[in-house]
Amino acid sequence: MKNKITVIGSLNYDMILKISRMPYKGESFPANGMVASAGGKGANQAVQAAKLGHPTYMVGCVGSDEMGEFLLKTAAKYNVNTEYVRKTSGSSGMAVINNLEDGSVYAVVVKGANYEVSKQDIDSSLPILKESGVCILQNEIPAEIVEYSIKKAKEAGCIVIFNAAPAIEIKEEYLSMVDILVVNEVEAEFYCGEVIDSVDKAVEQIKVMADRLGNSVIVTLGAEGSVVATGGKVEIIPSIKVEAVETTGAGDSYIGAISHCLIEEMDLISACKFATKCSSVTVCRYGAQDSMPTLEEIC
Ligand code: RIB
Repeated sequence: MKNKITVIGSLNYDMILKISRMPYKGESFPANGMVASAGGKGANQAVQAAKLGHPTYMVGCVGSDEMGEFLLKTAAKYNVNTEYVRKTSGSSGMAVINNLEDGSVYAVVVKGANYEVSKQDIDSSLPILKESGVCILQNEIPAEIVEYSIKKAKEAGCIVIFNAAPAIEIKEEYLSMVDILVVNEVEAEFYCGEVIDSVDKAVEQIKVMADRLGNSVIVTLGAEGSVVATGGKVEIIPSIKVEAVETTGAGDSYIGAISHCLIEEMDLISACKFATKCSSVTVCRYGAQDSMPTLEEIC
């Protein structure tokens, strides 16, 4: 197995607002504090993979502003190679994340430079895709580029993990092309057209999705753990009970960790158990990338 990991996707400047409740319409509600940190689903997943020790490459775009500089520096600090991250003339992607006292988060994401990722950027990254064992993708770049990237990553011989977040229309032929589809309960509802309001419902619907697409599917359920459908089997992986302070990047930590396990040739169920350990550490600290554990912290 080739040991490199390529992540194609977003880099965002996250502003995490600590609030006691969500504001009402027309209200100017005071936050108790703000933590600024490097985020974006793509960069977060890349950082987790790199923290677990694999040569990891990020493909994407940042703006030519201070936030872009910060995002590149933070990725590099965590050993993510940013040679394939292009600087555009506009502003960087950004997220405002409302963080309630129970650790839950409500985010609004500004697309920024992430929506300037082009087919040419993907073509330029082909040399590294061909050297990668795993390619990870999400939906914070244009859908047409996600679809193009899935095709190119498959042609390059990568195992493709597709985190279809946020849920947007992606053609079925591309959803079927990926090896592992990862969605949370909200995204799962979008792709299967059924309400997922319990673990039982997730188990029922994951089978339908995995059969329909012919690949492995993971539905993450936050504090309820995750459900995995692979090789005709469905398994529920319970979460590890911890005192969560801020859950931004928990799903990204989980996905980055799975890529590490696949490179280590672990089976998917064992990979999900390991990934659950990683995300349980991530939710106990503030910020996405800064809170993700290294291999030494997990083993
Ligand atoms: O998955 C968490 C990430 O989603 C945050 O870092 C934020 O930038 C949004 O993209």
